[in-house]
Amino acid sequence: MKQTRAPIFEAVKKHSNNKIIPFHVPGHKGGGGLPELRDYIGEHLIAIDLTCMPDLDNICSPKGVIHEAEKLAANLYGADHAFFLTNGTTQGIQAMIMSVCAEGDKIILPRNAHKSALGGLILSGALPLYINPEINEEFGISMGITPKKVRETLEHHPDTKGVFLIYPNYYGTASHISEIVEISHSFDVPVLVDEAHGAHLKFNKDLPISSLEAGADLTASSTHKLTGSLTQSSMLFLQKDRISPQKVKKVLNLTQTTSPSYILLSSLDLARKQMAIYGEKLVERAIEISHWIRSQLMVIEGCKIFGEGIVGNPGCHDYDPTKVTLNVQGLGFSGYEVESILREKYRIQVELSDLYNVIFLVSIGDTWENAFHLVGSMKKIALQKTYNGTPRPFPPLPKIPKMIMSPREAFYSPTKVINLENSVGEISAEPIMVYPPGIPLLCPGEIISQEIIDYIGILKSENADLQGPIDQGINKISVLTNCNFLDKMQIT
Ligand SMILES: Cc1ncc(COP(=O)(O)O)c(C=O)c1O
Repeated sequence: MKQTRAPIFEAVKKHSNNKIIPFHVPGHKGGGGLPELRDYIGEHLIAIDLTCMPDLDNICSPKGVIHEAEKLAANLYGADHAFFLTNGTTQGIQAMIMSVCAEGDKIILPRNAHKSALGGLILSGALPLYINPEINEEFGISMGITPKKVRETLEHHPDTKGVFLIYPNYYGTASHISEIVEISHSFDVPVLVDEAHGAHLKFNKDLPISSLEAGADLTASSTHKLTGSLTQSSMLFLQKDRISPQKVKKVLNLTQTTSPSYILLSSLDLARKQMAIYGEKLVERAIEISHWIRSQLMVIEGCKIFGEGIVGNPGCHDYDPTKVTLNVQGLGFSGYEVESILREKYRIQVELSDLYNVIFLVSIGDTWENAFHLVGSMKKIALQKTYNGTPRPFPPLPKIPKMIMSPREAFYSPTKVINLENSVGEISAEPIMVYPPGIPLLCPGEIISQEIIDYIGILKSENADLQGPIDQGINKISVLTNCNFLDKMQIT
């Protein structure tokens, strides 16, 4: 296929150059209706903020330039079908779950799945079978789930409709996806992959294998995170025949706007073209920069970076060096503190921080100059080192609470807000996540135990980052009304 073409971008350019008079939406009519924005972002950009029309195709049932562009993307990534998304990988993840699960169907997923997976569970009515990811105590991060646990769960629940994976994870660790795919397919269960952090994998053989190459059935990939398209633009890929493309399209049409941004669609088209032509070179350069940053940061006293050595630990079969996860415990700072010093003093914004780590994301857009600035800044921060002693590790996570009803039932049930300390036996209406390692202690529909309340108390006293509930101090929690299981379940 002619990967040097960009059908959507070519069509919008042609449309805009032809100076077609717009008696159609969007109402800014080429920028005249919002001159302040037009003057800042420029005439060209606002002129291609167009809508579906015959020469530009229709995303709900593409037959023209969107169809052509999606075919080119499928061809490049080695899929049978590609679907362009203008509501991020979130939209792709929800569609993946809804494509394989109806109300009451079971799906296996890691406990630390992104919140869009919870959205997919609520929208579909599916019942989650959670597997806890492995934890790396040294870095305080979660890894992948193991093939062994996937097999055991499938043996207990052979009626499972899908296995959902995060691959690779935010920290750049990658589970043994080929083995998980082989096991799942031996039960004739499709594998759905959240590849939000893996759109670049295909373009370098030293990176972990891409999920499509490993045989995954459906993969949602954040093109915007790593391969150059604009924020909010992602792709969903389908291969093999366990899931029908018509079903995926039908599901996408439920949540997708009927007015997709042609700026976003053009950026997907051009990102695909660029990766087809220059992808290997661009990714190689990003890897080179990230290896150099790693080599410089790992010799700073008090800093630790995981590399090859982490491979082979439970839940980690490979790793992606372009996610530079720097453990700063030994400097006496939390990851949050390093993030804020880098931002305020050195004009550097990191991708993510947690109690122990900061993550520097290196991609095809980075420069050596920025890499030098980052390393120089971290060296200066390390000079302020205050470390004196080993920080206390968090106690092991409590076991996954019992699920009394599906996330969907919990979402649609009436709720009330009560004091956390009085909530034993109640059913949670909201999730509570702890960072690190980014794993929910509670999900909607699960029963609250004294063990969970005590654990939250410990985390609060350690100033851990707890997220999810409406009450940010986590003194109150939203629970379902008239649903206390204390007597029935004999929970202490
Ligand atoms: C692991 C993971 N999955 C899914 C998403 C959602 O992707 P998007 O922001 O493209 O909707 C994110 C976003 O950060 C993520 O980190």
